[in-house]
Amino acid sequence: MKFFIDTADVAEIKDLAATGMVDGVTTNPSLVAKTGRNFLEAIAEICDLVEGPVSAEVTATDFDTMLTEGRKLAKIATNIAVKVPLTWDGLKTCKALSDDGIMVNVTLCFSPSQALLAAKAGATFISPFVGRLDDIATEGMDLIAEIRQIYDNYEALSTEILVASVRHPRHVVESAKMGADVATLPPNVLRALANHPLTDKGLDAFLKDWAKTGQSIL
Ligand code: G3P
Repeated sequence: MKFFIDTADVAEIKDLAATGMVDGVTTNPSLVAKTGRNFLEAIAEICDLVEGPVSAEVTATDFDTMLTEGRKLAKIATNIAVKVPLTWDGLKTCKALSDDGIMVNVTLCFSPSQALLAAKAGATFISPFVGRLDDIATEGMDLIAEIRQIYDNYEALSTEILVASVRHPRHVVESAKMGADVATLPPNVLRALANHPLTDKGLDAFLKDWAKTGQSIL
């Protein structure tokens, strides 16, 4: 399973990329706004930091302008995945960009029928938002299971399921169990994956006992 990180913060990306766990990056207009940075400059820097796909989202809502924006974003680097919203104009843009050989991430997916359309439009990635579904008292992870089942029924559908709006490690574990291809994780969730109180407790005890021996490995 691939891990992308869901941030536009270059310092965070640099830090986490050093762990070897980062297979790509996703950004969205809200994450870019949080950084206060120039969007195109920040995206170019991120593309230099990671080899894998870097999602950069269009901000127009009509087909012609989305396509122009998408083509401009794709020129930043070969690892750009143009992010388009799951609207009819977004799907048309997805088809046009993917026909040009550009990676496309179709975002704001909340239903299996939307995911099916994105795959038919040639999306490289579909981004179902599990956390936002949980927020409205529906089971976000059920959507991942449904999309997995649908995509697995058709060999011709090669779109990868990129679980988005991930809020906690359980979302990641459930995604992996369901065979999602990618999860995009906020930096705090990626860090939390390694945490367990028994690990901390166990290490503390080992170190205390080691100190009693008076020995040193080096
Ligand atoms: O990048 C899209 C997605 O991951 C947003 O997550 O937490 O704003 O619902 P969230």
